Amino acid sequence: MSNKKVFEGNRAAWNQASKYHQQARKDSLLKGFENPDFTTFNSDYDNVVVNKLKQINFEGKIIAQMQCQNGRELLSLMKFGAKEAIGFDISDIAVSEAEQLAKAAKQNAKFVRTNILEIDDKYNDYFDFIYISEGALQWFPDLHNYFAVLSRLLKKGGQILISEIHPFVYLFNNGFDFEKQQLDKLTSYFKKGPYHYATGMDYVGGIEYESDECFWFMHKISDIISAILQADIEIREFDEYNLGNAADETVKLLNGFPLSYIIIGRKK
Ligand SMILES: C[S@@+](CC[C@H](N)C(=O)[O-])C[C@H]1O[C@@H](n2cnc3c(N)ncnc32)[C@H](O)[C@@H]1O
Repeated sequence: MSNKKVFEGNRAAWNQASKYHQQARKDSLLKGFENPDFTTFNSDYDNVVVNKLKQINFEGKIIAQMQCQNGRELLSLMKFGAKEAIGFDISDIAVSEAEQLAKAAKQNAKFVRTNILEIDDKYNDYFDFIYISEGALQWFPDLHNYFAVLSRLLKKGGQILISEIHPFVYLFNNGFDFEKQQLDKLTSYFKKGPYHYATGMDYVGGIEYESDECFWFMHKISDIISAILQADIEIREFDEYNLGNAADETVKLLNGFPLSYIIIGRKK
């Protein structure tokens, strides 16, 4: 399958999903960001992430979020003291919502609609810190290209923080039923895909719909770590958790199962 088909399909599918998210949230984010103390980091798992973020000095720094969706996390992150933020996302609808939220929040944050693999060279060596959060890496067939872009955008010594869904969670993504324990329905940890979310991606309202064609890929932990290291980013911290915002209720039943991980890296 061509990469063009993957990225154009995902752009359309995320435009579709973003409209469902907006219907579910109504204007709660717009109203929320009018309050200078408002943050969207408020779950138990967000507390884990926030504790990691507190170890980083953001004062006067230029920061970015990759696959930032409607920018709510980046706008919340700005409250750690950065002087400028840029969010990148492929979805037209998500980026235009992010621009409205940035106005309401009165933050020095800009949003760019682009495929991450095509981010303009004017951002080379531009960022002190790049944030990547849950549900971001699975859209890329090849993580080597992806982390090569991040490395190009980071200043020397710049940091990344990845807070992602654990790939083990994706084993249960293609119709596995916990009660029936259909082990033959597990998605292989070793087969890259592409896979398809046919019933949509409305993780805010939980509405199921016939999704525009979109494609996601399984990346093993070793694929992720190798791609980061090969992009000249050294890994300073790597932790796994059995908490996560994105894991569905059935996966949470598996107490002791990894639901998320955090990696902190630094460009050499
Ligand atoms: C699951 S959402 C998660 C984003 C973020 N963690 C959040 O919770 O808002 C995934 C986002 O990735 C974006 N995306 C998918 N493929 C992309 C690509 N090739 N380049 C840039 N953004 C992409 C989608 O538009 C969507 O907004």
